[in-house]
Formats: sequence, structure tokens, C-alpha cells
Amino acid sequence: MIKLGVLISGSGSNLQAIIDAIGAGALDAQIAVVISSKPDAYGLKRAQEAGIPTIALTREVYAHPTEADEWIADELAKAGADYVVMAGYMRMVTAPILDAFCDRVVNLHPALLPAFPGAHGIADAFNAGVKVTGITVHFANALYDQGPIIAQRAVEIREDDTLERLEERIHAAEHELYPQVLQLLAQGRVSIQANRRVCIAEL
Ligand code: GRF
Repeated sequence: MIKLGVLISGSGSNLQAIIDAIGAGALDAQIAVVISSKPDAYGLKRAQEAGIPTIALTREVYAHPTEADEWIADELAKAGADYVVMAGYMRMVTAPILDAFCDRVVNLHPALLPAFPGAHGIADAFNAGVKVTGITVHFANALYDQGPIIAQRAVEIREDDTLERLEERIHAAEHELYPQVLQLLAQGRVSIQANRRVCIAEL
């Protein structure tokens, strides 16, 4: 059983998928704390309904990003988090968290990295006219959206797609893959090789 500290900023549908996977016995983890960069994030409600301790931050806290992340890293450690799980967290995670949880911060990105990094991965792929996009779960490090890739799933862009329809399928893929990857971590099957490639051990 691993303990997760989940960072959110918004709707928290991926947080919900993690909560549901734990409830269904598909993910051997406990969510120790949910920290939101926004006080009105809907994900906070989801956490509270599931009886998970929450911390809501305001924009002012981030005026001094390093101090903010020192404080967040402290709270994650106090909660006993083994892994930090970014789930729609719209802030950079900086050195104090990355150092305290080295190779233990995971992020979910709604495109097939290294293609379409940044805050608008779904729209950027859609507007570029690519036929296949997808999702990426990776370790976060100081290089934004460039950390070691743990898992990816492709999502096809159809001829008659709208951005909204594509977003729905991307989110559905995320809700399936993210808990599965966290379960790989819970099973201790994920390792980062010297060449920064991620290796998944067979059971
Ligand atoms: C997801 O699409 C994720 O890939 C991106 O932000 C979105 C979060 O959605 N980083 P939610 O808050 O989990 O519903």
C-alpha cells in the first residue's frame, strides 16, 4: 500500500478516478492528502466526500514560489506521502518538492509527449491536424513536460471530431490509465534506468 499526495487545481475528475479505483480494489493505495492550488476547485469537494484531508491554497501563497513549494513539500511529508500525484495541477512543481520527492512526482499530460507539451495539449494536437494524439504519464522533473515517460495511450482523432468530443475521449483514457500506472508504482514495478528510460517489471 502506497500513500499518495494528490495535487489538483480544478474539476478533479482524475482524482475521482483514483478514488474510485481504490474503492474498487484495483489500486492498492491510500490518498493521504489532496492539495489544491485554487480554493474553489471542484476536486476539493470530491476529496471531502471521500473523507480525504484537504488543503486549499490561494494565489497569494504562490507569490513566493519557492517558499510555497517548501511549505507544500512539508505538508506532503507530514501526511506521509510516498508519491506526489499531479492531477490537473496548473502550477509548476519546483525544486523543494522535486528534491524532497525525487523521482516520486508523477504527472499526467493530455498528449503524446514530447509532442504538444504545455497547458493546451489537446487543442494544440487538434489544431495541428494530427491523426493520432493521446496521453502520457511521466515522472516530473525540473524540465517541464520532459521527465521520464512511464506509460502512454494513443487516442485517434476522427474525421468528424470536434475539440469537445476529442477532449471527452482523452479524459476517458486518462481515467483508465492513471490509476493503472499508480498501481504499477504500488506494486514496486517501475524503475528508472541510467538512460532515463522507465522499465516496468513483469509480475
Ligand atoms: C487532465 O486533462 C490532465 O491531463 C491535465 O489537466 C486535466 C485535469 O482534469 N493535466 P481533472 O481536473 O482531473 O478533471
